[in-house]
Amino acid sequence: MNKMYHINISKNDIKEAKTVIVTGDPARVKIIANKIDDKSIALSSNREYTTYLTAIGDKNILICSTGIGSPSTAIAIEELAKIGIKNFIRIGTTGAIQKNISLGDIIISTASVRLDGTSTHYAPIEYPAVADHYLTHYLVNSANKKNIDFHLGITASSDTFYCGQERYDSYSGYVIKRFQGATEEWNKLNVLNYEMESSALFVVCNALNLKGAALYVVIDNRNESEKVNLDSYNKAMNNCIKIVKKSILEHDL
Ligand code: URA
Repeated sequence: MNKMYHINISKNDIKEAKTVIVTGDPARVKIIANKIDDKSIALSSNREYTTYLTAIGDKNILICSTGIGSPSTAIAIEELAKIGIKNFIRIGTTGAIQKNISLGDIIISTASVRLDGTSTHYAPIEYPAVADHYLTHYLVNSANKKNIDFHLGITASSDTFYCGQERYDSYSGYVIKRFQGATEEWNKLNVLNYEMESSALFVVCNALNLKGAALYVVIDNRNESEKVNLDSYNKAMNNCIKIVKKSILEHDL
């Protein structure tokens, strides 16, 4: 079978894997792969898409980067689905909106506010961006069994890091009226966090009859600090990997 246009891998390469761990940063793929199994195999690196094949128990699993944002995430989902992937688990990074969420905490999404454009190419805006119930339940259960704390709730998924997440430290410093006060409003509406891929992940997966779930490491809190603390990041990333690993080990994924 031909290699997929962007991810540059074929059905033969993935050894009947049904599940992929997706993450934004191409450099993070190798790190996750090696933490899962030091015999993981690098399959391809093309543009923002780096892919490794690894194994959890007796299951082959892919790890693939999506780059930042919804358009490149949708491309990855399309092409991975075409070669047989059914389950998409995103491990990402995120900015917290709620005051009680700290750097190095873990958030599991139940659904996302659709502040992106890509998902509207797949389904009208009334269609919910909702995580797969079972996949999410597996993540929650695995975290509980491993005594790893997490926050569970709704994520705001934005196409932009600056304007759409109401950052005033951009080049112009200007945020259009639509987003002025948005962070306070999401806070009041109990939205937990900002990131940039889950709305596309959830809508595309539901529209194509695939399963998608997402968990994140908190690297900033929009009420306080924008500084990444490497120690808490590494600990939380390791915990995310443990949660996903256990979910895959214990279920038919
Ligand atoms: N990713 C985002 O989109 N926003 C943040 O604040 C942190 C990570």
